[in-house]
Amino acid sequence: MGGEFKKWVVMMLVLYMGYGVQAKPQVPCYFIFGDSLVDNGNNNALTSLAKANYRPYGIDFPRGPTGRFSNGNTTVDVIAGLLGFKDYIPPYATTRGRAILKGVNYASAAAGIREETGYQLGARITMNGQLRNFNKTVSQVVGLLGSKSSAAKYLKKCLYSVGMGSNDYLNNYFMPRFYTTSSRYTPKQYANVLIKQYSQQLQTLYKLGARKIALIGVGQVGCSPSELAMYSRDGKTCVKRINDANQLFNVRLKSLVDNFNKNLSGAKFIYINGYGIFQDLIDNPKTYGLKVINKGCCGVGRNNGQVTCLPNQTPCNNRKEHLFWDAFHPTEVANVFVGRRSYRANSSSDAHPYDIRRLAQL
Ligand SMILES: *[C@@H]1O[C@H](CO)[C@@H](O)[C@H](O)[C@H]1NC(C)=O
Ligand SMILES: *[C@@H]1O[C@H](CO)[C@@H](O)[C@H](O)[C@H]1NC(C)=O
Ligand SMILES: *[C@@H]1O[C@H](CO)[C@@H](O)[C@H](O)[C@H]1NC(C)=O
Ligand SMILES: *[C@@H]1O[C@H](CO)[C@@H](O)[C@H](O)[C@H]1NC(C)=O
Repeated sequence: MGGEFKKWVVMMLVLYMGYGVQAKPQVPCYFIFGDSLVDNGNNNALTSLAKANYRPYGIDFPRGPTGRFSNGNTTVDVIAGLLGFKDYIPPYATTRGRAILKGVNYASAAAGIREETGYQLGARITMNGQLRNFNKTVSQVVGLLGSKSSAAKYLKKCLYSVGMGSNDYLNNYFMPRFYTTSSRYTPKQYANVLIKQYSQQLQTLYKLGARKIALIGVGQVGCSPSELAMYSRDGKTCVKRINDANQLFNVRLKSLVDNFNKNLSGAKFIYINGYGIFQDLIDNPKTYGLKVINKGCCGVGRNNGQVTCLPNQTPCNNRKEHLFWDAFHPTEVANVFVGRRSYRANSSSDAHPYDIRRLAQL
């Protein structure tokens, strides 16, 4: 009897400790910067056309429409889950008090590296604005933890992900009706101009205390239903001049990672090859259960690519077979795939010099 009881106590202890280990995320906090690919509600109260806080956005999300531009999770939701966070990382717009210690999401739809990017859609929080907001969070962390040094010690353990640049192409360079950048710069010059500004912004992030930073490259904007509808003759073939411009940016972003790791003391930057990971889905749709890769599941016009999904519009039923949810944004299936491979790279080309899992462990 006594032996049985002892066994029971040991078993409960093992269970309890197992639970304790499982309950603790691999990093104490996760801060997110980006655009509509990862916005989780920061645009909801802004005067903007770039919003997704209505049905059927979030149709497969436990909490329904939240401002996420997908039917379900975004890539950062998937990454947060893999890091062991039990809850979603909350949006900056509505997060107060101690909750910020777990991390905050600053992402804003239509935002870019450049200040003017996305202005035709209305208000948005640009990369500069997101950094100003993070600066405020840092002061609050100092207040909560009691000193600048304890805040710095805490913040350097957190994971940071930054995914910017898509809108600087989509809602700037390749939208000559509203922007003059394409007449002022060649694609090569534009990539340089963007990287120069991004480099400054990322150094600000570093100065504010971030050390473990994952930079997510730009995806193939030229394969989105929106660009296919506008520029692809057959509605299927991706727009090469757009994708080539995106790749010029990505090549420079990857070297920026090496530059920072060499030149910024204590910095651990990584580059996530979102373009390459997404290419696998485009090249091998059947392998991943996809049937439609050139058309939004929800939307209007050619390729369902003319505008985003409209309020209360009925989306397609086979969401798991679609690569794109709307004219610009991937479905949850695609986001899970990209999120998983960003966290745990399948090959050395997915992440450089290593993946998010390893970055979290350092
Ligand atoms: C969505 O994200 C949440 C929170 O990170 C996670 O718990 C859940 O497993 C995710 N669902 C899918 C389908 O990836
Ligand atoms: C953060 O904000 C403070 C107060 O406005 C400012 O003095 C400081 O320069 C900012 N830090 C960075 C790195 O931008
Ligand atoms: C470090 O910075 C200097 C000056 O900006 C630059 O010339 C050098 O290439 C950088 N190192 C790496 C590895 O990029
Ligand atoms: C990982 O890459 C190998 C080839 O390098 C490929 O055969 C396999 O299907 C890939 N797996 C996933 C999940 O992408």
